[in-house]
Amino acid sequence: MERRKRYAVCGVSNRGLNMFIGPLLRTFQEHAELVGLLDVDPRRFEVCARLYPEAASIPVFLGEEAFDRMVAETRPDGIIVAGMDSTHATYILKALAKDLDVISEKPMTSTAADAKRVLEAEKKSKGRVTVTFNVRYTAEARRIKELVLEGRIGRVTSVDLNWSIDTHHGASYFMRWNRMRANSGGLSIHKSTHHLDLVSWLVGQAPLEVFAHGALNYYGDQGPENPKTGDGRRCASCEVKQDCAYHRRWNGRVAGGSVKDDHLGTVKPDYTGYHTDQCIFDSRIDIEDTYTASIRFDGGTLFSYSVNFSSPYEGLRLILHGTKGRIEWTHYHAASRTPFPVAEESTLDLMPLFGSGRERIHVVQGLGSHGGSDPLLQEDLFLGPDPKRAYPIQSNALAGAQAVALGEGIWRSARERRLVTMEELLGC
Ligand SMILES: NC(=O)c1ccc[n+]([C@@H]2O[C@H](COP(=O)([O-])OP(=O)(O)OC[C@H]3O[C@@H](n4cnc5c(N)ncnc54)[C@H](O)[C@@H]3O)[C@@H](O)[C@H]2O)c1
Repeated sequence: MERRKRYAVCGVSNRGLNMFIGPLLRTFQEHAELVGLLDVDPRRFEVCARLYPEAASIPVFLGEEAFDRMVAETRPDGIIVAGMDSTHATYILKALAKDLDVISEKPMTSTAADAKRVLEAEKKSKGRVTVTFNVRYTAEARRIKELVLEGRIGRVTSVDLNWSIDTHHGASYFMRWNRMRANSGGLSIHKSTHHLDLVSWLVGQAPLEVFAHGALNYYGDQGPENPKTGDGRRCASCEVKQDCAYHRRWNGRVAGGSVKDDHLGTVKPDYTGYHTDQCIFDSRIDIEDTYTASIRFDGGTLFSYSVNFSSPYEGLRLILHGTKGRIEWTHYHAASRTPFPVAEESTLDLMPLFGSGRERIHVVQGLGSHGGSDPLLQEDLFLGPDPKRAYPIQSNALAGAQAVALGEGIWRSARERRLVTMEELLGC
């Protein structure tokens, strides 16, 4: 029998429970072993044991300073980093210093300076970092990658990506730790790294420079739907929630009459001294909810990106223009969350520049979370990359760092009103 690879998890987060801890215990247990859990909040260990009773016997370690002891006592081969974004760098660097492999949730780090530190540390280490960019694994993204590799649209000249995050999902970022730049790097890092990495991977190029604009238009105390000035409110006890358009859009007037999403609905929020329903109109919010950016890649592809975190529906429109044609992917998130009927949830079209007409491509959707991407990603992580896949799909530290640097570049460019280069942020 193959030796099971041993993993310790730093950050018993909602994502950590769903994406790593549960699958390690219940799906990949013959191939990998969960040997330790670390978090700063002891309640997270209780949540874990409640969800997965078999985890109750796994040693737990409290606080960053327990990392060395955890490694000494549990002898992991790899560290899974799944806590708040700003904590990732600490554990990645500690793990690399001990020659351990790392699986890091996106974003790899919350600043470009930390991303650079990780790249430097990885050079000196026997350990390797993998970043879990699950969007690469969606059925449409994989098919687009294949079409590009097959040369169906020739050399990719320009890309347009508009990502819309609806008033439920978008607002959720402004209720949680993500709303402070110190924790998440802002949404151009926390969320956009998914989108920025996707495009870099599809075109097979590294970003060189970015010019961007960004603004806080919907949330924060100046949000146009703010029913009342004043900080510190929470939805659970808010006296003006029936006057809050965001709350009314997604919740009934009785408890329990609400929709669920990826972030808030899977595991009941249970943390010490921290709530996931903080008011989206708090004046302390210091991140943006709207970005537009113009990016240039090292292979000459130009990339126009925009993202909005308060859209009536959730979805995206991705267009790749090439010297021989165009690929267009339009995706509406689950039909139940679109406020109006849509013909199809997701369409993928290939349009040659000359010759025959449009080809509609029907992709086989996978089962499981995030459009079937998470189970495929888990298989690659815990069984090894799928030998039947003809192209690399796992993201390494460099791709993780480039996405973080581009995300930070967007924010810096918007703030400083100038072109920002990846060279200045990453030194490469
Ligand atoms: N790939 C995806 O689709 C996806 C989806 C959601 C979240 N994520 C990522 O997963 C990670 C967790 O996000 P979440 O929303 O599930 O988080 P969460 O709010 O559920 O949990 C955050 C955890 O971090 C812990 N923590 C805080 N400081 C810590 C420290 N210094 N050391 C160790 N743990 C610490 C908290 O106690 C908590 O358990 C984030 O990096 C996020 O970006 C990825």
